[in-house]
Formats: sequence, structure tokens, C-alpha cells
Amino acid sequence: MSEYGHFSEDGREYVITRPDTPRPWVNYLSNEKFCALCSQTGGGYAFFETSGYNRITKEYPSFVVFRDRPGRFIYLRDCETGDYWNINWQPVSKDGMGWESRHGMGYTYVSSSYSGIEGKITYLVPRTENTEIWMVGIKNVGAKARKLSSFSYIEWSLANYAFNLVEASFAQLFNEVSYDRDVILVTTRFWNVSPAGGGNPNLRWDKHAFFTSNIPPVAFDCLEEAFIGTYRDWKNPVAVEQGRCSNSIGNGRDIVGALQHDFELQPGEEKQFIVLLGVVYDKDDAYRLRDHYSTWDECERSMRDLRKYWDGYLGRTTCDTPDKDFCVSFNIWNKYQAWITSRWSRMDSYYIGGASIIGWRDSWQDMLAILPNDTQWARQRTLYLLEHQFPDGSTLHNWDPLTNIGVKTGHSDDPLWLVMGVLEHLKESGDIEFLDESASYYDGGAETVRQHVVRALDYSLLRRSARGIPLIEAADWNDGLDQIGRQGRGESTMVAEHLVWMLKEAGELFRRTGREDLADKYEAAREEIIAATNEFLWDGEWYVRGTRDDGQAFGSSKNEQARIYLNAQSWAVMSGLAMDSRGEIAMDSVEKYLDTEYGPALFLPAYNEPNPKIGIITRFAPGTKENSAIFNHSVCWRIMAECILSRGDKAYEQWKRTSFMTRGEEPHVYKVEPYIYSEYIHGPDSTGFGEGEFTWMTGTAAWMWKVCLEWIMGIRPVLDGLMIDPCIPRVWDEYKVRRNFRESLYLFTFENPEHVCKGIKSITVDGKEIEGNVIPPFKDGDAHEVHVVMGAADV
Ligand code: GLC
Repeated sequence: MSEYGHFSEDGREYVITRPDTPRPWVNYLSNEKFCALCSQTGGGYAFFETSGYNRITKEYPSFVVFRDRPGRFIYLRDCETGDYWNINWQPVSKDGMGWESRHGMGYTYVSSSYSGIEGKITYLVPRTENTEIWMVGIKNVGAKARKLSSFSYIEWSLANYAFNLVEASFAQLFNEVSYDRDVILVTTRFWNVSPAGGGNPNLRWDKHAFFTSNIPPVAFDCLEEAFIGTYRDWKNPVAVEQGRCSNSIGNGRDIVGALQHDFELQPGEEKQFIVLLGVVYDKDDAYRLRDHYSTWDECERSMRDLRKYWDGYLGRTTCDTPDKDFCVSFNIWNKYQAWITSRWSRMDSYYIGGASIIGWRDSWQDMLAILPNDTQWARQRTLYLLEHQFPDGSTLHNWDPLTNIGVKTGHSDDPLWLVMGVLEHLKESGDIEFLDESASYYDGGAETVRQHVVRALDYSLLRRSARGIPLIEAADWNDGLDQIGRQGRGESTMVAEHLVWMLKEAGELFRRTGREDLADKYEAAREEIIAATNEFLWDGEWYVRGTRDDGQAFGSSKNEQARIYLNAQSWAVMSGLAMDSRGEIAMDSVEKYLDTEYGPALFLPAYNEPNPKIGIITRFAPGTKENSAIFNHSVCWRIMAECILSRGDKAYEQWKRTSFMTRGEEPHVYKVEPYIYSEYIHGPDSTGFGEGEFTWMTGTAAWMWKVCLEWIMGIRPVLDGLMIDPCIPRVWDEYKVRRNFRESLYLFTFENPEHVCKGIKSITVDGKEIEGNVIPPFKDGDAHEVHVVMGAADV
């Protein structure tokens, strides 16, 4: 709750109570193919399948973050006085409007009142069709009859994002526009599917975008110059000021879509109309869609379908805990964000534009939160991702989903995310036979899933320094460490930890599936790496982050900058690599040296000068991005590590401190959306300490959700069932979790009468006490009651 907004009673909507939030607060309206970014005031843009090559409406990257223009605007004009405003508030941005907006799952609603007229717009993208639907209502709440014109307005930017940006005037020459039977149809005769937008591939875009409404417009415009006018902007378009569109077409020029409707409203009267903005391969489909969505009832049906989809998706894993914020985050918004990242990877946000990227490591991680909620989808995704590995075990780093063209960069962590993804999939599904399924390689051939895993591990095992520690190569998880190991000598502690963790899990899997040979080999390698890392990379109070090509350690007490890195400590615990009490000591150092009031920094102090031997990380302004911000993705791992060390109060305290719900209570500091995670919060060495940045597209979404379920609430899938191992704040008396797992529903009640953080006294399943802490999979389609009593450990 803040002066800008709050969650609705049921948590399913974020209600924004004033339009001028400190930054645009954005929602993703999307099915699996069509993606519309929509802010609380209707700002934003849309693309189809890939943000690089199938753009539909315009994004001026330098405009969206602070100005939130252009967008999907509805202007209203009073025909008698000539006064005009926007239902959605901007761009005219009248003072003194009544205004409210609500973001929900797959839709955004905005309403306003001004000069006796109430306006409402629901923007939504239906589950099955590739179109935005705008359901618009205008009501006269005054005492006299009114004559109004409405102007529904968007700006086109078709096909290649980079080309349209860099070659703006040239790119327009290919625009083809028509207005036929009340539908604006646009396409481009030039389609370039290369990231830089260069060359002439001799292609026409294979799609048409359309803009239409269910009632015939009285006039329209397609030429931007005609609608906006020269020396004007969105605030005072000449067509709106003069009250008339001029039926301009605009072939080969800068194009927009404007539809004018005229209304007469008696006192108390309301008129409703529907606007559609979509993309089709065949022009006829635009007419089919216009006819299909021509009634309010049909659009409401789409809203109900959306609701049904999200009820199903959100309902599979839910909790009820004493912390209501935790529940709203876990049950709804964190899970919703994880769905968006899983579908759209790192393609596009208000902060990252048009990259068209399916990130390899990102996508494996994004999938983790989908596993319990849509196991089938995750299975398909796993197979799809596997197809981007090479037979030697290496992988692409990212690619465009349309062309399937990508880059192989040699990031040392990449193969290991495959191992984690496949193992987690097996634990959730229990489908061991999946290991024998065939999966293709990127450059041809196919082998079993098991073999993909083996190749990934073997590839990583081969790439080690003389003393047995994994090389960092092009960089590891931390992309910005890109000059540490260019000469092939620099080492990565984080990759050592990652590899140790995966070797353990894969070793166990191979042992129980009859591959003792592999299990023995991986166990021996694991012990070797544990010993080497502990011998060479322990700094006294923490693990160094690695070594450079010249042999110098970084992330060490001997450094002046970046003396201690967070990930090297949390992963030492997560992987089980930390020897003796080093895990506790390292995490205590995190607390001592990295914690800030907004969460732990990625490292401290920030690099304050570019260092060509370390990488781009040192070039970011101090305290921003990977240069020592509070990087939320890493916060998740910190929480997980605290849970492993049984420090439930600390884990929860970190969740609370870094949650968007907490940060959102200080909107003037945090600025960004208070209902989803940002990639990072400016660190203490930034002039913007506490500000959120790069919202939506972050690995935080999946990991935070997973950590809450599996490590705080302590319900983790293992091959044999569900392992129960909570690590909660001791103040929690009781909590409940409802979780679907391998075709059964598990209804958990956890009681904590002794107020412990960790420890189990007893577990009963359907009234019968069980031995140990693993609940078997019943696979019976029934519901099972699980009662867990926490206390000083007996189990
Ligand atoms: C960004 C990238 C991710 C990377 C992280 C740290 O979140 O999407 O792939 O691991 O930054 O560099």
C-alpha cells in the first residue's frame, strides 16, 4: 500500500490510484505468441513471437522508461467546447481527472472521469487469438446531452526492430497501407531477419497488422503527419484539436492507426465499443477476428476464459501463511511473473528492447518455477532447450526463436544449467524414462536425454585449470566478468560450486539407474574439485570469486574493490562444497560486509574504474547492474543458503526486505512496479541507492518462487516423492500449502508449537505417521492430508 496504489482484496489485481507513478508500471498482456506491454496509462507496444523481427507497434526506447509514449491511447473531444483529454490520462494528461487503473493477469483496466464523462477501457489479449482487445465504455454522468468524438490511436512499427530504429526514414519506404471495409491493414515489403537489420534478403513481411473496431469509424488516419501535425506531438494532435481525421493513407511513410467515432450521449447514457489491434498471416483473418469480437458478450467471454486459465494455473500450488504479503507474492504475482519470464525469456521489457533473445541459461532457470504448475509445458520446453546443445556438450548462449539462429559464446556455466533443468524435471515428474528419450543437437544428430546430461558434465569437467578448478572462459553466470579468463587460465569459484552440485545430483541419479560407472566417475571428480577449491580459493573469511588469467584472485580481502562476492558464498553452501564450518563463516561474512537496508549487494565495494583485466562489470557506473547492485537473482540464492544453514529467521528476513511488496512501500525510493521483481536495486555505491531497475525479465521470478516453496516452506520434489524440510521464521505458528504432485493433490498443514525455524517432530499422511521425511507419490488423482509438526528434530 502506498500513495500510488495497493493490491485488491483478493490480491489478483494491483490497483493504481494515480497515473503519475514514479516510473511507468507495466503489465504483460500475452498468450504464448502475442505479447503486449501495457502500462497503467495504456503506454507500451506489441510484438508477435519474437521481439526483434515481428514488431507491431512502436517503441521509442528512449521514451518508454520515463515518458511512457507512445501507446494505445483513446482521446475524447467535446464537440461543443473543443476541450479534449484521454480516457487513459496521457498523453494529454489533464489535471484534476478522476482516475484509476488495475493490472490483472493478462489484462489492464483503466477508468477516468472528466467534465461529466466517465470513460473505461479494458485492454486484454485473449488466450487463443493474436490480438489486443480494447473494451471501451463512455458514459455521460452529467445533466445535459453531450456530443463527443473518440480517437483510438496507435503507432505502427512493423517487422524488424533494429532496422526501424536505426534506419527510421528508410524503413518507412516499405510500408504498405490500406483501409478497406472499416479495417486499417498494414504490412511492409521489406523484411530483414538479422539482428542489426542490414542487407537485403528480398523478403516481404509474411504478416499483416490490423486496427479496427466493431462500429464503423466516421473517419480514420494512417499518416502520422496528418494525425499529429507538424510541430506538434501526442499532447495536441491536430486531428483531435480540429475534431476530424482526414482519411490519410501514408504508403511509404511514417504510419499510425487512428479511428474516429462520434457519439451523442443523453444524460446517464453509456455507449460501448470494441477496438482490435492484431496480427494475421492472411488479410481475411482480420475480418474474421473483427466479426468474432464484434459483441461485448464475446469479449467478456474472452475475459472469463482468461480468468479460467489463470485460476487453473495459479491454483496448482498455493499457500496460506501468517504473512499475507508472502501469500500474495507466492500465490499470485511472483508466480505470474515467472510465467511471463518462462514464455518471453529476455526478449523485451521497458528496459531491454528488441533483443529477440531466448537466453539459454535464463530459460533453464525460468522453467524451474513452471515445473510444479505446468509439468507438461516444462517437459516440452526441456526438449526444446536441449535442441540448442552441441554434441561435444557445449551450447548456444542465446538465439532468436523464429530463425533459431544464435551465438555460441563459451560461457563456462552454460552446460550446467541443462543438467539442473533435466534433473529438476525428473524430480518433479518422476519420469525416469525421460532419460532414454531422444533429443536432437543443434547441428544435427540426436542422442538420449541422459547422454545430453553426460556430455554437458564431461564438457565442464574437461575445462579445468592445472589445479583442477573450472575455468571461467568467456564469463560465468555473471556476464560482466568477461575479461577474467580470455587467455584460458582464469578460474571461477561459482562454476566450481555449480559443477560440484550437479555432479552430486547426477551421480546419485546414475547410481540408482544402474550406471555405477558414471556415478563413480562423477563422485571422484566432485571430491577433487571440492578439495582444490577449498585449498586454493578460501580466503580466510570467505571464498574468493575466482582467479584471473594472471593468477591474481578477485573477490578477495587483498583487493581494494569487490573484496567479497555474494554468489561465491551462497553457492558454497548450496553445492555442499564448503568444508567444515566454512559455510557459516562465509555467510556470516555476507552479513557483515554485504548487507544493506535494501538487501545484500552482489559484491562490495563497487569497481570505481574500468579494469580491462576484469571486464565490462567494472565499466557500469558504481552500484548499478552487475557492478555491485543488489541483484535480486542472487538474493534468492542467499535465502536458499540461509535455509540450508537452518537460519530461518534470516532467510525470511531477507525475503521480506527485498520483496517487491516491501520495496514498493517506498515508491519514491524504489520507483518501479511494486507487484513484480526488478532485476536489481541500485547498491550503496550508486547515487540512486534503493531504486529498482530492469523490471520483469529476471531470473529472480523463478528462483524466488522456488526458494519460497522448497526451502522456506520446505516442500521439495526428490525422485522418491516430496521431501519435507521447512525453514521458516520462528514466529510462524502454522501454515498450509496446497500442492499438486504427480497426479495427486497434497494438502499440507505445518504446525510450529515450539516456535523453531527448522526441525520436524512428526509427519502424518492421511492420519498415519510416516518414517523419515519423504512422502511417497500416490499418483492416484486423490487428495492427501499431510500433517507436519515442527519442533526440536526427531526425524
Ligand atoms: C542477467 C542475465 C543473466 C545473467 C545475469 C548476471 O540477469 O539475463 O543471464 O546471468 O544478468 O550477469
